[in-house]
Amino acid sequence: QSGWTGVNERTFIAIKPDGVQRRLVGQIVQRFEKKGFKLVGMKLIQATEGLLKEHYTELRSKPFFSGLISYMSSGPVVAMVWQGLDVVKMARKMLGETNPADSLPGTIRGDYCVEVGRNVIHGSDSVESAQREISLWFRENELQCWEDTHSHWIY
Ligand code: PPS
Repeated sequence: QSGWTGVNERTFIAIKPDGVQRRLVGQIVQRFEKKGFKLVGMKLIQATEGLLKEHYTELRSKPFFSGLISYMSSGPVVAMVWQGLDVVKMARKMLGETNPADSLPGTIRGDYCVEVGRNVIHGSDSVESAQREISLWFRENELQCWEDTHSHWIY
């Protein structure tokens, strides 16, 4: 996956169980489509505790770790891979801050939630994390390299 730079940069985005339960999937997907990013992977998945503990492995010692794992395993999540120029950084901007109280209106967390423990969406925080998370959640054959016939209007 070392060739995923420039317009081929990829990030991992997950709509968390609260986002699915609250029927926010369509509106969130639409924001990424409207921005000009390309959807290359998507699935509705009930994540196992094992997968989530691996995903959040850096947070194992945090006091909120077990609450985070039970929240994230409380229902299905929509796991996605989005591709495009600077997508890791721009997706994080679109999400807003980790704490919804610090997220500006217009961002996903700024518009849709109030509490850090129910903050609707996850996005990779760096290109390296994105590569790790994408390979954790997706097999190579679940990702599509489709030809984007209107990308010349975006780039
Ligand atoms: S930290 O403490 O700086 O490492 O945490 P941070 O990078 O801000 O957040 C890492 C992920 O943990 C989630 N988080 C929490 N969940 C539940 N309760 C509390 N108090 C809490 N604080 C942080 C936060 O949403 C991040 O998860 P993702 O999935 O990346 O949004």
